[in-house]
Amino acid sequence: MTEMGKIVEAADELAAPVVIGPEAYISEEYARAEAAKLWRKVWLQAGRLEDIPNVGDFVTYDILADSVIIMRTAEGEGAGALRAFHNVCTHRGRRLIDTPEGKRNARGNKASIVCGFHGWTFDRQGKCTYIEHQEDWQGKLTDERTALGKVHVDTWGGWLWINLDPDAGPLRDYLEPAASLLDPFELQNMRPRWRKWVIFDCNWKVSMEAFNETYHVATTHPEFMEFGQYRGWARNQGLHSNIGYDAPKGQEEDQAKLRLGAGDDPRISTAEMQAFTWASANTNTTMTLVNAALRLKDELPEGTPAPEVSRHWLASARADDEKRGVFWPVVAPEHTAKTGTSWQIFPNTQIGHAVNNMLVYHYRPYKGDPNKCIFEAAVYELYPEGEAPETEWEYTEPQDWPSVLQQDFNNMTAVQEGMKISGFRGTLPNPYMERTVSSLHYNLARFMGTGTPRKID
Ligand code: FES
Ligand SMILES: [Fe+2]
Repeated sequence: MTEMGKIVEAADELAAPVVIGPEAYISEEYARAEAAKLWRKVWLQAGRLEDIPNVGDFVTYDILADSVIIMRTAEGEGAGALRAFHNVCTHRGRRLIDTPEGKRNARGNKASIVCGFHGWTFDRQGKCTYIEHQEDWQGKLTDERTALGKVHVDTWGGWLWINLDPDAGPLRDYLEPAASLLDPFELQNMRPRWRKWVIFDCNWKVSMEAFNETYHVATTHPEFMEFGQYRGWARNQGLHSNIGYDAPKGQEEDQAKLRLGAGDDPRISTAEMQAFTWASANTNTTMTLVNAALRLKDELPEGTPAPEVSRHWLASARADDEKRGVFWPVVAPEHTAKTGTSWQIFPNTQIGHAVNNMLVYHYRPYKGDPNKCIFEAAVYELYPEGEAPETEWEYTEPQDWPSVLQQDFNNMTAVQEGMKISGFRGTLPNPYMERTVSSLHYNLARFMGTGTPRKID
């Protein structure tokens, strides 16, 4: 039962305390409706450009029953070198490219796509080039009738994005203001350090909302409290949203990810926080940043003011990386502050950005079951030319993920089950620290026609 109040009619009303009914998380009917109303209407992050460097390289991306083949058809940057097709044979509907058992997606290189059922063959442009006994169809099999169905594909940030809606608008317009605010971070130059995926017993939104706010840090990750304050802001950004940390005046960059430890001696607390983050999360930092933080106590005198420690740490890490041929983009501190630590790209992607690393989460429904989702995380950084490791998506059981992430996982099934309890009266997101939750549901409701947050009377 949801507490009633006036529905939120405009995004700027999201600053008010709201309540969100549990329907979007637990209703089977809602989960069924998402296929047509949501997943077939939005731009989705479907893969990474560096996974298809050569002509003929392809990856597949599945979202519920839909499956898409994204193929490189020419050299060069941009969408002109790519094609995306519905992964289904135009003859009798066999899925054209199977996902290997236990894999997240298919990946490979093909000169042509041959259907395994009766051998119809398609070239890289999706044109059907071979049909056995074609004359039996008495001339009715035109190129148009037999060509693979096209899907919109475009690129931004080094990712492949697809949209199943034949009338989709431009990707760039869809991604704003996130695209323009994140462009200076040159995310397209980063390469994965690791990428893992797993299936969880919760709705994809429960999973996403375990990571899109800082309100949970104090309780779920108590170890981090030794290193400082984790009070953070959350903002609506049109379809999207972002989060960052509150920071003292003069230390605006500390709203972002490459953040100083707090306390009496930030030289020590930054070193401890970096070492802990590397060992227990293996996200949000790099070995270069960790090493530069460990040297702070030798390179700076006791009592160095925090803003000076921050400048020194980042400058010496930048210099270390430059020596090995890794060049961070230069982003003005005010801009870094405005972008915060992480963006939620509607509906199901999170990009935790910095100038030299990023953490990207992606959430998908699993087989239409509101109680299940596919969760994935990839950690990227900058590498010297040609030295990025070869990585694959690894299916990883929850207990084999970094321990900090396991702390987040521990809440997810419990939230999914808790929201089904008849006495639950709806989600009450913190209007300052969890506005990302209200923002997601405000935007979801515009697609789904139900579930709009209500202001608490
Ligand atoms: S279903 Fe593909 S060739 Fe028959
Ligand atoms: Fe967390």
